[in-house]
Amino acid sequence: MNKIPRHVTIIMDGNGRWARQRGLDRVFGHRAGVESVRAVFETSAELGIEYLSVFAFSEENWSRPDSEVSALMSLFIKSINNEKETFLKNGIHFRVLGNRERLSPELNAAIDDLDAATAGGTRMTAIIFVSYSGKWDIAQAARRMAAEGGDDIEKYLVTYGIPDPDLLIRTSGEQRISNFMLWQIAYTELVFTDVLWPDFRREQYLAALEEYSLRDRRFGKVK
Ligand code: IPE
Ligand code: IPE
Ligand code: MG
Repeated sequence: MNKIPRHVTIIMDGNGRWARQRGLDRVFGHRAGVESVRAVFETSAELGIEYLSVFAFSEENWSRPDSEVSALMSLFIKSINNEKETFLKNGIHFRVLGNRERLSPELNAAIDDLDAATAGGTRMTAIIFVSYSGKWDIAQAARRMAAEGGDDIEKYLVTYGIPDPDLLIRTSGEQRISNFMLWQIAYTELVFTDVLWPDFRREQYLAALEEYSLRDRRFGKVK
């Protein structure tokens, strides 16, 4: 691979369909999906990718049935607590971005704890977008910028300090952005794959990175 992106972001989609294909409840798809998250984190750290971010739960996802929302929130808490050692051992700084006000005190505490515990990690930053939407991000940035009389909106986005994604991968065959980072993906390369998220492991990830490495990025200029 001749080009390694600095920031890879992933819209993890297809957990529900993966479970349905097996006659299982959607929750089993989300659980299987956690293994895929681990696989892409590990592979990214190995390849020297500096930022790996994943869209885990959108603002719109709050409208899913209560049972699914609470299963997902429990899964986040459990995963955060389980992965602490892995993050520490691998020098990965763990962060969560999104509308934190909507998260439970227990989840917020687990996030703050892992973020603080791993803050010294310099090998890679792992970002989980939870209760996030691109329009929400731009709106909250605009409000804070107006309140402070600022003029650089980038400074107020929750992603401030994080380079814009070089590559966005979406699984499960859907070819849309679903209100993910809208401002930040202005020049991001998009790779869509039919693979459902629980089936997206190292091999599928390497294939997406390979596709990225063949892209010619021009940023509006003439080469
Ligand atoms: C992605 O899988 C995970 C979340 C959005 C939380 P889905 O739950 O959207 O799975 P499908 O799209 O219904 O298959
Ligand atoms: C996008 O998936 C959000 C996340 C992956 C967290 P959705 O399954 O919610 O998106 P739509 O509804 O198919 O656009
Ligand atoms: Mg979906």
